[in-house]
Amino acid sequence: MTERKKVSLPDLFDKAGRGDPITMLTCYDFPTATFQEQAGIDMILVGDSLGMTMLGYDSTLPVTMDDMIRHAQAVRRGSPNAWLIGDMPYMSYQPSVETAIRNAGRFMAEAGCDAVKLEGGAAMADRVAGIAAAGIPVMGHLGLTPQSSSALGGFRLQGKTASQARTIVEDAAALERAGVFAILLELVPDQVCEIVTERAETCFVISLGAGPHAHGQLLIYHDMFGLYPKFKPRMAKVFGDAGSVILEGLERYAREVREGAFPTEENYFAMSDEALAELTRELSADD
Ligand code: KIV
Repeated sequence: MTERKKVSLPDLFDKAGRGDPITMLTCYDFPTATFQEQAGIDMILVGDSLGMTMLGYDSTLPVTMDDMIRHAQAVRRGSPNAWLIGDMPYMSYQPSVETAIRNAGRFMAEAGCDAVKLEGGAAMADRVAGIAAAGIPVMGHLGLTPQSSSALGGFRLQGKTASQARTIVEDAAALERAGVFAILLELVPDQVCEIVTERAETCFVISLGAGPHAHGQLLIYHDMFGLYPKFKPRMAKVFGDAGSVILEGLERYAREVREGAFPTEENYFAMSDEALAELTRELSADD
C-alpha cells in the first residue's frame, strides 16, 4: 500500500477549485477509521450523530464534549491522514463565544482534530469568527441542523419555499464573512445548494442530501452500510449491507456454539503432554 500524505486545507481548496469532488464521511471509532484511511477519504467528521448511531439516543442532544473527545481520539488513531473535523455538540458553543472557543480548542488539543463544525447561520457568526480568530478552522452547517430539529419541525427537507431558501443563502453568506472554510448543506433542495455553491468565494460547500452541485459529498457511515436499524433516510445510498452480514454471522455463531461446532481445534491451544503430566501429578499430590 502506498503511503498516504496528510490532507491539508490547501489540498482541499485545490480540489474544490479544480472541480475534483471532495469525499467526506462520518466516523466514530478506530476500526472504521482505519478502513476510511485506507480508502483515501479526504475528510472525516466525528459527528454528534454518534449519539444516535453509537450510543442509541433518540437525538444528538444528550451528547457531551467528553463523548466527542473520546470518539475523536479513537478516529484520529485510526486515520492519521484524513482532514479530521470534530462536531461541536449541543450547548458546547451556543452559550457564548468564549465557550465555543474553549470547546473548539479541546478538539484540537485533546483529539488531534484539524477543524471543528458547528450548526447555525447568522446567529452563530460571532462564534465562528471567534473560533477562526483563535486559529481553528471552522465548518458551518445549514439546512437540516439536527440540534434544532424541534424548532425545525423534525428531520425534514429545509429551504423549500423561496423565503426559506433565501434565509439559507443569506446565512451561508454570513458564515462565509465570519470565516468558515466550508459549509455543510444538509437536506436542502438541489437548486439551493447550487446557488450557495456558485456564490461561495472563500469557502467550499459539502452536500449531505443536497444534490450533486456542491464541491463534495458527505454520507453518514452507518446509513451507507445498513448499520443503523431504526431508519434509512432517502438521501443515503446503501453501498453494502454490512448490517445483514453481521446479523447472519451472529446467528451462525450462536447456532455453532449451541451445536458444538465451535470452537474446533484450530481455535484453541493445547499444552504439552509433559506439562500436562506434571500438572496432573502436582494436583493429585495436593489432594
Ligand atoms: O453529526 C453529524 O453526523 C452531522 C451530520 C448530520 C452532518 O452533523
